[in-house]
Amino acid sequence: MASFKITSEVHAERSRSHENWRQNYVVTQFAFAYPPHMKPKNSVKYDHEGDLVLQRKEGKLLIEHSICTQLELVGLQLWRGAFLLADYIMANPQEFEHQNVVELGSGVGLTSIAAAMLAREVTCTDIDLGEILPLIKRNVERNSKYIRGKFNVMALNFKDTDWPTSLKRKLAESRIILAADVIYDDSITDHFVSTLEKILHSDDTKRTVYVALEKRFVFTIAHLDSVAPSYEEFRRCIARRRLKWTLEEVNLNFPQYFKYDRVKELVLIKIHKT
Ligand SMILES: C[S@@+](CC[C@H](N)C(=O)[O-])C[C@H]1O[C@@H](n2cnc3c(N)ncnc32)[C@H](O)[C@@H]1O
Repeated sequence: MASFKITSEVHAERSRSHENWRQNYVVTQFAFAYPPHMKPKNSVKYDHEGDLVLQRKEGKLLIEHSICTQLELVGLQLWRGAFLLADYIMANPQEFEHQNVVELGSGVGLTSIAAAMLAREVTCTDIDLGEILPLIKRNVERNSKYIRGKFNVMALNFKDTDWPTSLKRKLAESRIILAADVIYDDSITDHFVSTLEKILHSDDTKRTVYVALEKRFVFTIAHLDSVAPSYEEFRRCIARRRLKWTLEEVNLNFPQYFKYDRVKELVLIKIHKT
């Protein structure tokens, strides 16, 4: 059977001028405007000859990734949800500072690295498949100058029924759970919801989950309308399990720090158990 390959819109819409090939992977500079809390405190500086030294207002994440993969390895690419969630984190430093954060389905790790600019500890997880986990570790090393606290990379498969004690501990200590663009396949979505259920209902701790996704619309004859089947399946999985969660769509009027197309199909959902 032919194996289909997929390219994320993020790579399709970017210039490749800054990329360096390394086997199947490229290293791309993803520039971001400094949010207010990262701007140098004293923005006017002079060198020893009295000339004004211009302060940089932009940071750069160096991210190694693939630009075309099979469906099961889409985590080797970057998706718009990762940037939306990174923007949200940068726009809301007070929410992430001094927190223990876990990301699920992290892909190449960009969102976790953005969280690590503020958080006390970030645990970046994904399924242990192909090069995903080693790639995250390489990306963390490349961007170590931005990482403030502790950074862990761990395997977490939504389909596993039991997790190692070390991972359970990180989940138990977490107050914020992040996930970007993990809702695109019904079976994965079902296991993702059961993973969130396990995390949120494991104890009495109040946790906030942020799920970023791009509603991918298709037109169906049955509905004579366009529907976003993956997103609807996500809502159905929550309803089927009778989970008492509040889901709130976050207003996307926060600044855009990274360069990507913030299309209208992007949504950010904030979840709490009630
Ligand atoms: C579309 S990618 C999104 C990656 C990244 N969050 C981003 O937005 O760029 C989907 C992610 O879900 C992960 N994933 C798929 N099945 C999974 C599973 N069973 N358990 C954990 N993660 C899974 C993939 O490895 C991949 O990293």
